[in-house]
Amino acid sequence: MRHYTIAIDGPSGAGKSTSADVLAKRLGISHLDTGAMYRALACALIADGLNPAKEDEVIPALSAYSLSVEFTPEGQHTLVNDQDWTERLYDHEISQAASDVSRYPAVRRYLVAEQRRIAEGQSFILDGRDIGTVVLPDADWKFFLTASPEVRAKRRLKDLEAKGEEITFAEVLKDIQRRDDQDQSRADSPLRRASDAYLIDSSELSFEQVIEYMAQKIEEKLGFQDV
Ligand code: DC
Repeated sequence: MRHYTIAIDGPSGAGKSTSADVLAKRLGISHLDTGAMYRALACALIADGLNPAKEDEVIPALSAYSLSVEFTPEGQHTLVNDQDWTERLYDHEISQAASDVSRYPAVRRYLVAEQRRIAEGQSFILDGRDIGTVVLPDADWKFFLTASPEVRAKRRLKDLEAKGEEITFAEVLKDIQRRDDQDQSRADSPLRRASDAYLIDSSELSFEQVIEYMAQKIEEKLGFQDV
């Protein structure tokens, strides 16, 4: 098969990025985590003393930022003006800030163009919110991966606790619900399932079952010899 693209969209904490990583390794292709790009931009804005929730502070600053992504054997590194933000991306405050900056059309235009450029000419899995609807509407496979807010909050809490952050289940759940609302209700490219995306509700599925389902859908079309 010529090069191909796979889109994985869904709300935060649904396991998109981890599934995309495992699937990409299995297929021998690259994975671009587009949420990391919104997160890195939020990190840079905060470091420069700007408020990501204020569009009139973010937009004039945008032209000073150049975002780049590097793929290493350990995974994706996301940089803004050559500063690598990879270690900070999942700090608790960054999640809301990334959702804030992702509402602005000028930010989306810039990052969507970068995402298309990176994925051009080779096989790629992209995960995010608008991959199947906006970034790659002609992707060869589209998955919409979701889970109940409670299940997603439980998974996110485990990750945050492992990093030593002190936070309760109720706080994580509230944050997830607020970000779901914001990501689904924004005017520009809201989170929604593409009509031709396979819907996977992973609330009652193991991680391995999710991967097997996706791999099966891909491999049945790709042909065993190519995998
Ligand atoms: O997938 P994530 O939680 O790392 O994404 C962080 C935020 O970035 C999320 O709240 C919405 C935004 N985002 C987006 O608007 N479009 C994408 N393709 C990816 C992420």
